[in-house]
Amino acid sequence: MTHWVRVFDDPSRDAWQRPAYVVGLLALSPSDTVADLGTGTGYFVPHLSKAVPKGQVLAVDVEEKLLEHVRQRAHKAGLGNVRTVLAKTDDATLPGGVSVVLLVNTYHHIGKRIAYFRAVGERLGQTGRVVIVDFKLGKFPVGPPDSHKLAPEKVEQELTAAGFGRCKRDDTLPYQYALVFSRACR
Ligand SMILES: C[S@@+](CC[C@H](N)C(=O)[O-])C[C@H]1O[C@@H](n2cnc3c(N)ncnc32)[C@H](O)[C@@H]1O
Repeated sequence: MTHWVRVFDDPSRDAWQRPAYVVGLLALSPSDTVADLGTGTGYFVPHLSKAVPKGQVLAVDVEEKLLEHVRQRAHKAGLGNVRTVLAKTDDATLPGGVSVVLLVNTYHHIGKRIAYFRAVGERLGQTGRVVIVDFKLGKFPVGPPDSHKLAPEKVEQELTAAGFGRCKRDDTLPYQYALVFSRACR
């Protein structure tokens, strides 16, 4: 766990990850339920928690050890609106009522993505949004090699096949692109 905390929660990450900017892209309302799919150590959880004071953050991952870490982190920080969800590798197992699903540096970890996100779309309904933030192609001081990355055009092609439309593309972050999808944007 200490390894992942060192990697995902490195204090220098804030400068390029700009979590407040990313959370702004989600356009959350205070009572929304937002899922952090592939939450890892919960880097985004405190930021999301603050954005939905009357709603809920679902910290979702396939690794129970990471979820235990997130529960402890939320408890220590006094974040009462955080719940963890143990997902299956081929099913996000989201409950109903989720408005936004955020995936940061996680999309490429998921297999059979078209079927996976078709099911996510059915769960989210017409107005729900999926926001994907992932590394741009190219050589940067952070992030995986290009062989592990997906071009934003490929992500868009897959999400379109899964029934979504792209509402927005944002290239403001130095090393990552952000894509906002919804069935309402088809
Ligand atoms: C690179 S980490 C990103 C963590 C976090 N989003 C962040 O930005 O710090 C990817 C995370 O996705 C999780 N993951 C991998 N496959 C997954 C799947 N099919 N469903 C949900 N989470 C998954 C991993 O366990 C890991 O915690």
